[in-house]
Amino acid sequence: MDAREMKKKAAEAALSHVEDGMRLGIGTGSTAEEFVRLLAERVADGLQVQGVPTSERTARLCLELGIPLRSLGELPELDLTIDGADEVDPQLRLIKGGGGALLREKIVAAASARMIVIADETKVVETLGSFPLPIEVNPFGLTATRIAVERVASRLGLSGQITLRQSGEDVFTTDGGHHILDASFGRIPDAEALAGKLYLIPGVVEHGLFINLASFAIIAGDTGARTIKAQ
Ligand code: A5P
Repeated sequence: MDAREMKKKAAEAALSHVEDGMRLGIGTGSTAEEFVRLLAERVADGLQVQGVPTSERTARLCLELGIPLRSLGELPELDLTIDGADEVDPQLRLIKGGGGALLREKIVAAASARMIVIADETKVVETLGSFPLPIEVNPFGLTATRIAVERVASRLGLSGQITLRQSGEDVFTTDGGHHILDASFGRIPDAEALAGKLYLIPGVVEHGLFINLASFAIIAGDTGARTIKAQ
């Protein structure tokens, strides 16, 4: 099974948790897009849902495929969010933000009664951190913020390159008008400690550590899909 088929398998399994009338948070990224395509087929067959997209990119795809959308302002409490992840550990902690949508993804997930993560086996890790941690920062004082992140990391025994994400020739800008620092720490043994310390840095808008947000993850592999549950 190739990567796309695995993503589709996870998305299919998640779709069985979507019920008529649900207010649905809709994630961002290639796995979430597989979900959007399958959801659109169900909507075309009569399923009634109202979606809240986690990015402009997802919003465009949903509109193109006929999925009714609302803003989080209109629907501040959601039944379920379905989204991908860059890393998932056995405790169901995640790294997200590879697609740059981490802020809206986290706000939408936190506004949802449940969050289901969809991913393929390549995303499962023992310890988070092989994937560079996206940290969304305000453009003002960018260098000062990067230095502060380095200091905080160093106090926790973490080191590695912290690079400003680019998009072609330009600095990458998020839907919220911020930039992203990608921190290649390699291993993040104490994700909770790092998450807490990053929030204390004024220029940090949000980070890609999703802790205590996912209800379960559907992980697709060659032999089918398995579930990682919150412990
Ligand atoms: C978007 O900002 C991310 O959080 C995505 O959910 C994550 O990068 C997973 O993307 P893929 O499904 O494309 O791997």
